[in-house]
Amino acid sequence: MTAAINPSSLIDYRALIEPTRVNSRLYHDPKIFEQELERIWYRSWVYVGHVSEVPNRNDYVTKSIGPTPVLLVHDRTGQISLLLNKCPHRGNQLCAYREGNRSTFTCPYHSWTFSNTGELAGYAAQILGVEQHALDHLMHFLARLGQACQALAASNENVDAKFVLEILICFDTPDCDV
Ligand code: FES
Repeated sequence: MTAAINPSSLIDYRALIEPTRVNSRLYHDPKIFEQELERIWYRSWVYVGHVSEVPNRNDYVTKSIGPTPVLLVHDRTGQISLLLNKCPHRGNQLCAYREGNRSTFTCPYHSWTFSNTGELAGYAAQILGVEQHALDHLMHFLARLGQACQALAASNENVDAKFVLEILICFDTPDCDV
């Protein structure tokens, strides 16, 4: 199905291309880039990579289609396919390496793990037997604790334990802006 084109969004491309020069707007206008993606890249076959880039089972290479990050994988069953390189939980990038060999991808944010065939294989909250939101809260708290420790270490001041405790309590409060 193709989306209807709004006439007011049309750009006069002919006016931007002259026999001896092209308007630089073609290279940096976000609206033109958006139309290029919609009308060309998202409507036809796109060359993403070659099978020779993933010769062995579990090989992968990170790629992109426009702004969309993808993984070209030779999966554990022998199929070659594309997966979104984006965690369906909160949209974090799933794999940060350019290439490698692995049968699963674990999101660094909350540790959801996916097989290279695309299925959810498991997540830390499931393994620990806790609710995901409780684990999210703990991870958030630990991240902020790490920030606090870094800030304190960088402050070069003698900080007493009571002050550290106050900061930690404040960090564990949703509205805290320390
Ligand atoms: S964003 Fe990936 S596990 Fe939460």
